[in-house]
Amino acid sequence: MSISQNHLKHIAAEAALAYLSNIEIIGIGTGTTVNFLIDLIGKNRKKIKAAVASSIVSAEKLKQQGIKVIDLDSVSELPIYVDGADEINLRLQMIKGGGGALTREKILASASQKFICIADHSKLVERLGSFPLPVEVIPMARNYVTRKISALGGQPMTRKGITDNGNIIIDIHNLNIQNPSELEAEINQIAGVVCCGLFTQRPADILLLATETGVKTLFPRNQS
Ligand code: A5P
Repeated sequence: MSISQNHLKHIAAEAALAYLSNIEIIGIGTGTTVNFLIDLIGKNRKKIKAAVASSIVSAEKLKQQGIKVIDLDSVSELPIYVDGADEINLRLQMIKGGGGALTREKILASASQKFICIADHSKLVERLGSFPLPVEVIPMARNYVTRKISALGGQPMTRKGITDNGNIIIDIHNLNIQNPSELEAEINQIAGVVCCGLFTQRPADILLLATETGVKTLFPRNQS
């Protein structure tokens, strides 16, 4: 019998609770997997006093669960950040931003001492790039950035709507990602780009990967 993807997301979120026993301030990501964690924290508060959220949607959900939401600026350090991923490889580098929150997610991931990624096994890939790569862009730079991205070999498509930061997202389809770290740096260099959905400079420290046989704990693997 195959276990539903929602069940896998739930058990990945549940596994993260073990890392929160002494945590007072938590960084919380965005997405359906993290939503399970927010519900679990609401029911089983542990020592958590407040959360810093990576999106307005997550902030609202945290408040609904009675969890205080604070700004990143009001804390001197963020001991732990928990978030999902759209794709993750064995180095624990990721593509993120399917939910549009990539910039705030990257800020919280970078500001955190420990980044725990929670995901079901469908997110683990050998090579990043099947998932369209989201790039957050200042609206006035749309056409310029689109031309620059086309030169990288992918097909850019502007997403409908705006981000929590008032910007647009260009999703790059069919990108052949040979070197994720170089590509992250290259896209970051394009004027008008706010944030690239590749998370290689700040990968996750721990991956809690839910599989049909239970949750596996993975650490970044060095690969040539
Ligand atoms: C949000 O912008 C994304 O980075 C999410 O972390 C990612 O899309 C994972 O979402 P799910 O948990 O819904 O798969």
